[in-house]
Order: sequence, then C-alpha cells, then structure tokens
Amino acid sequence: MDSSKRQQIIDELIVAYWMEIETVMSYLANSTNLDGVRAEEIKKSLAADVTAELGHAQSLARRIKTVGGIVPGSLKFKASQASLQPSQDTTDVVTVIKGVIDAEEGAITQYNKIIKICDGIDYVTQDLAITNLADEEEHRREFVGFLAEYEKRS
Ligand SMILES: [Fe+2]
Ligand SMILES: [Fe+2]
Repeated sequence: MDSSKRQQIIDELIVAYWMEIETVMSYLANSTNLDGVRAEEIKKSLAADVTAELGHAQSLARRIKTVGGIVPGSLKFKASQASLQPSQDTTDVVTVIKGVIDAEEGAITQYNKIIKICDGIDYVTQDLAITNLADEEEHRREFVGFLAEYEKRS
C-alpha cells in the first residue's frame, strides 16, 4: 500500500470513529431525556444502540492503530449532529427518530466511502466497514419503521 493511500484510509477511519463517538453521546442523551409512554420503545432501542455504536468505535480504533495511525484524543473532537440535540419538548419522539435516521445515514455514507477507497488495497479495513455498514443499515431500517408508525399516530 502506498503511503498516501494508507493516510487516506486512516483519515477516513478517523472520520468514522468520531461519528461513532458522537452517536454514542447523542443516543445516550436521547435515550435518557425522552418522556412518555410513546417514548419507551425508542428509549430502549437507543439505549441498546449505545453499546453497538461504542463497539463500532472500538473496532475503528483498533484498525486505526493496526494500519499505523494514532487514535486521536478528545481535544480533536468536533461535533456535527445538529439534528440530535435534545429538544425542550421531551415528548417530541418524532424529532429524535428523524435525528437518528440522519445519524445512521451519515454513518452509512461514510462506511460506503471507506469500502470504495479500500477496494483492491486493504481488504481487512473493507471487511470491517462492511460489517459496521450492515449494522447501520439495520438501525436505519428499524427507525424508518418507527417513523412510519409514529407519524401515523401523531
Ligand atoms: Fe455505528
Ligand atoms: Fe447505528
């Protein structure tokens, strides 16, 4: 692998790593903040996803290290998940569901990017990105289903 390709892969793994870390923060907050009967399933699902997303972050950190990069420290973190900020209305489940779909789509786009740049060059990173991509597609599908139901009931 030439060094510019290797650096590009490390850079994109770090982008994915920060997305996962921010998703952990956002899902942790939203799985706690919501109120009401209609929020219960969403809270449970998000609480379970905190663990899944943290697992993704750990898998990315390991791979960054293995391919010669350095897992960045917290001072390098820049937040971007505007649509997952807690609302003043803690019963506003639909806004949270839409924010989750945005976050999952962001991750799906990033993993697809990694899969493409790794093609023919780094099959282990590609395999990791495919595994995580499959999880994110399942998360997105679950929340698209929630959205269909919650929009009907509201
Ligand atoms: Fe994830
Ligand atoms: Fe996810």
